[in-house]
Amino acid sequence: MSDAIQDYVADVSLREPDLLAELREKTSELPLHLMQISPEQGQFLSLLVKAIGARRTLEVGVFTGYSLLSTALALPADGSVVALDLDEGWAATALEFCERAGVADKVDFRLGDARETLADLLREEGAPGSFDFVFIDADKEGYAEYYEAALKLLRPGGLVVVDNVLWHGAVIDHEVQDSETRALREFNAKLHDDKRVELSLLPFADGLTFALKR
Ligand SMILES: C[S@@+](CC[C@H](N)C(=O)[O-])C[C@H]1O[C@@H](n2cnc3c(N)ncnc32)[C@H](O)[C@@H]1O
Repeated sequence: MSDAIQDYVADVSLREPDLLAELREKTSELPLHLMQISPEQGQFLSLLVKAIGARRTLEVGVFTGYSLLSTALALPADGSVVALDLDEGWAATALEFCERAGVADKVDFRLGDARETLADLLREEGAPGSFDFVFIDADKEGYAEYYEAALKLLRPGGLVVVDNVLWHGAVIDHEVQDSETRALREFNAKLHDDKRVELSLLPFADGLTFALKR
């Protein structure tokens, strides 16, 4: 998409709440600000959460909280989101903004390596099969493991959304052989053959995969 079309899309469709715009401004000062999802993606996640009537969601990879706040705002008053990240500083920003938005009571933040926090979550009574929606946006080498955990945690008909599956085009450049790119290539191929889900990959933003648990 050209910049002009991108601007037009924002002009005619973006409804970014003030606090999300403030969070985006604040995050833009960080060296790793490009990790944040775009406002259009945030709005899309919000719409998805509402469209499927999600009450219980999970996010793997929070950063400063743009996607977390987008989904927490979309959940009903009695909804909840389990949020996983290992960085205390970014978690503090995410929680500060959720607090200011009045949605902190919906957020169950678990600090630590998602491999461990997900294993703990899977052991909790009533957790497997209880989630409606999972957003995966953490370290790419962990995607396959996070996806397997997500499938166990989701109810049938629950949705997993996975970010960055095109990795700025590196997935088709076989000169690129770093661990993140290789992990994403393997992940995408694995999902293509996965009969446990309905599948769609949208070339939106950096590539978003949707897997609906059968
Ligand atoms: C791409 S950013 C997430 C962006 C976020 N969804 C947003 O909307 O701004 C990836 C995040 O995953 C976290 N992360 C990376 N490896 C992780 C791991 N093993 N366990 C938990 N979090 C991890 C990083 O700390 C970082 O905050």
